[in-house]
Amino acid sequence: MSDGDGELEARLVEQEEFEPSDEFVEQANVSDPDIYEEFEENWPQCWERAADMLDWYDDYDTVLDDSDGPFYEWFQGGTLNASYNCVDRHVEEGNGDRTAINWEGEHGETRTYTYEDLQREVNEFAAALRDLGVEEDDVVTLYMPMVPELPIAMLACARIGAPHSVVFAGFSADALATRMNSADSRFLVTCDGYYRRGDALDHMEKANEGLGGVDHGVDATVVVDRLGEDGFGHDLKGNQHDWDELTDEHEGEEVDPVERDAEDMLFLMYTSGTTGEPKGVKHTTAGYLAYTSWTSHSVLDLKPEDTYWCSADIGWITGHSYIVYGPLALGTTTVMYEGTPDFPERDRLWEMVEEYSVDVFYTAPTAIRAFMKWGSQFPDDHDLSSLRLLGTVGEPINPRAWKWYYQHIGDEECPIVDTWWQTETGGMMVTTLPGVGTMKPGSAGPPLPGIDARIVDTEGEEVEPGRAGYLTVNKPWPGMLRTLYDNDDRFVSEYWQEYSNPDADEWVYFPEDGAKIDEDGYITILGRVDDVLNVSGHRLGTMEIESAIVGVEGVAEAAVVGGDHEVKGEAVYAYVILEDGYEESEEMRERITEGVEDAIGPIARPEQVVFTPELPKTRSGKIMRRLLEEIANEEELGDTTTLRNPEIVKDIQTKVGGN
Ligand code: WT7
Repeated sequence: MSDGDGELEARLVEQEEFEPSDEFVEQANVSDPDIYEEFEENWPQCWERAADMLDWYDDYDTVLDDSDGPFYEWFQGGTLNASYNCVDRHVEEGNGDRTAINWEGEHGETRTYTYEDLQREVNEFAAALRDLGVEEDDVVTLYMPMVPELPIAMLACARIGAPHSVVFAGFSADALATRMNSADSRFLVTCDGYYRRGDALDHMEKANEGLGGVDHGVDATVVVDRLGEDGFGHDLKGNQHDWDELTDEHEGEEVDPVERDAEDMLFLMYTSGTTGEPKGVKHTTAGYLAYTSWTSHSVLDLKPEDTYWCSADIGWITGHSYIVYGPLALGTTTVMYEGTPDFPERDRLWEMVEEYSVDVFYTAPTAIRAFMKWGSQFPDDHDLSSLRLLGTVGEPINPRAWKWYYQHIGDEECPIVDTWWQTETGGMMVTTLPGVGTMKPGSAGPPLPGIDARIVDTEGEEVEPGRAGYLTVNKPWPGMLRTLYDNDDRFVSEYWQEYSNPDADEWVYFPEDGAKIDEDGYITILGRVDDVLNVSGHRLGTMEIESAIVGVEGVAEAAVVGGDHEVKGEAVYAYVILEDGYEESEEMRERITEGVEDAIGPIARPEQVVFTPELPKTRSGKIMRRLLEEIANEEELGDTTTLRNPEIVKDIQTKVGGN
């Protein structure tokens, strides 16, 4: 680009606030600023607005039942089906020939499913699942990469009232087994493999190994043949079925959507917490679907005629809520891409935005930082003028990355929504409404209408603007998790212990994020305050990684912390003490890395493994993690006077610096 580009940058660097264009506001689904007041004055009845976006068999009687907090219930008495809402009703309304899913494989092959196609596929697979013995309320595990059969399987499960539990395909065999065991899941849908940077990956081997670790009987496995001739030649065993053969047997069959109670489970999603054991977050049918529909409408500004692309993987909550359920409930066209953004070239995403005329694009700050690093020539080479709105999710976005996204992807015409939320919240919670609010790069924005989020100190008192505190949510919302699977006690202790007052029946949700608020009520998220890392927008528990490392032969003790990383945001730093008789070596380092990959997956791979004879510990024997973080970041060290073994610090510092 010309020199003028540089001048533009300089102007943007100074600018702290941005307004949506009149053109955007005029067409926005929500543009009246009174919406905040309307929701507040009419709470919780305001949420009928979200429920009204769905088709119900029986109407609900009450909006919110708060008689047994924090076990809230929403839209009680109502019955509905999520697959009907995401598929059939659009066909019945005459929109069957509109595209539901535009899928692209890494090699460029494409598949287009209209809503009518989707309806047929979902019905056939629902019939197949029934035939395999899946009954209402059975948990079906989906261990699948980004193939169209994944959303089809999710919707087929929803159709017959079988909750799905999607396990991210990048997770290891162990992780699959842990999740199937935890949910007592007897059915698995998986895939032979997929393509990554041009190579075929063997997924079936991991799936089989995972199945070997399941403690109970597995009734059936269905395998999608993605690789064809590039496959690895795994034979299907006794209760393993080929997806295509199975659906051929059920060609043209129709399965009536099951009437589910509002509070019936729609799905489980496992996520990392402070302990080694992943948490099975339970989401229900009505509240979740109403909430993701409402936020897709109000925040993503989706219209049925839009083509919308969220570049996340469906294996995470972002993909569940904003590739599958929200956009399809609204009858939008959703784009799915199998591969990575840099294959075959670093302009792959922009090429696709141009090709599909994407209107709304939603991605993670880690991706934006990578795009920045690669340079603006890649987006500049493409016509991105179809874009109307941009979004980010998963981690804080620094103002520089925000402005780069604004300038080079949005051409200074698209508002950006920086959306804070979590697996547990089901949908977006803190962000500007793009047709209403001023944007402030670096700050997510105010809580959405109807969401009572506050920044408090350790006593639960609201802090002054500008001061760091803890984010809390002081009222329930429809998309909230209902419990942790089979573990109500842990649900209460994980999220509702810190700031609630059970005697007064006051329940405050604590998401474990630090944050601050400004004079205008805009919230800036400062990051997790528990032992959870955010690596490339993915949540990893330090305990999970530590227990994987300690499981490696020869390792005595390990401490894992997050260090700053230019692209990933945070990276895994592992400090390891070896047992006597084992020596630090490249081989040992590799075994540790493999141990982590086997237990969790490549995303948890340590950036650095630092061998040390001791870990810095306080006199009471607690590992001083703060210090290990400072060392990882090569920062000036804080107070070390409470250490029992201060002499070790220099030693470790030299190793990290010298690496
Ligand atoms: C954690 C939740 C929500 C889908 C992706 C992650 C961090 C999320 C933002 C944001 C700053 C953010 C928080 C949160 N986070 N969005 N816009 N700004 N931080 O879901 O795996 O459940 O992780 O991601 O720390 O607690 P998740």
